[in-house]
Amino acid sequence: MDWGMRNRMGRMFRAPSGNSVMLAVDHGYFMGPTRKLENIRATVAPLLPHADVVGLTRGVLRACVPPESTTPILLRVSGGVTVLQEDLSDEAITTSMHDAARLNVSAVALSVFVGAPHEHQSLVNLSKLVDDGEDAGIPVMAITAVGKELEKRDARYLALACRVSAEIGAHIVKTYYCDGFSKVVEGCPVPIVVAGGPKLDSDRAVLELAHGAVAAGARGLDMGRNIWQSEHPVPMLKALRAIVHDKATVRDGLDILEGEKARGARPLAAASPA
Ligand code: 5RP
Repeated sequence: MDWGMRNRMGRMFRAPSGNSVMLAVDHGYFMGPTRKLENIRATVAPLLPHADVVGLTRGVLRACVPPESTTPILLRVSGGVTVLQEDLSDEAITTSMHDAARLNVSAVALSVFVGAPHEHQSLVNLSKLVDDGEDAGIPVMAITAVGKELEKRDARYLALACRVSAEIGAHIVKTYYCDGFSKVVEGCPVPIVVAGGPKLDSDRAVLELAHGAVAAGARGLDMGRNIWQSEHPVPMLKALRAIVHDKATVRDGLDILEGEKARGARPLAAASPA
């Protein structure tokens, strides 16, 4: 791996743990103004200092993130279809590597849709992006997307999708946590981070997901709704960081969350925009 690529990976996967808590706020690229992300500038501003990386599109980056920010950027570069379509897999590359370099991003991300109608197209998108990323020294994250078919998220399917992504050259793979997750990690020779998916029923369930993923070998999280749809997103991020970076238990994480709440961390609705 060249110096630039290694430097960017090191900024995202931070020493000493070598893990990462990435904050995903790219949902609007196909979902529009999702709940609690309607005013994305107001949502992101208080969270940014607590995330190792923020994942978003170039439009939101240019409009909503101050250029003085030091949080590494994971730039979503695929899209072209919205939730109004039944088949979400018909994606293209929507942002050039040249623009990603101009934005000084730490990595780019695209979705791959294994088993979906546009599987081939999405995997070819990945291969081209990896060629461009290698040229520019910018790592590529493949996101094993399932579109509306959330039930696809089992170890057999995810192991296949992650391995195929790594074989094509993805430097990082984002996938879902599942029963038997260690099999997914075992079969994927590049770092895996885990998405949260739709909002879970309890804080404990979110922390259990994070703990289970890291215990099974994930290198961290790239999580959205279970952070910013939480009533207490900053405490939630702090609790997740303790699990991902400091080997905290779920109980430790809950204690951090409760302690932060007791100290009066403001719910997101009360946070002021940047
Ligand atoms: C949107 C994405 C999200 O970044 C990813 O799903 C993580 O967010 P969440 O934790 O809300 O699932 O790829 O397409």
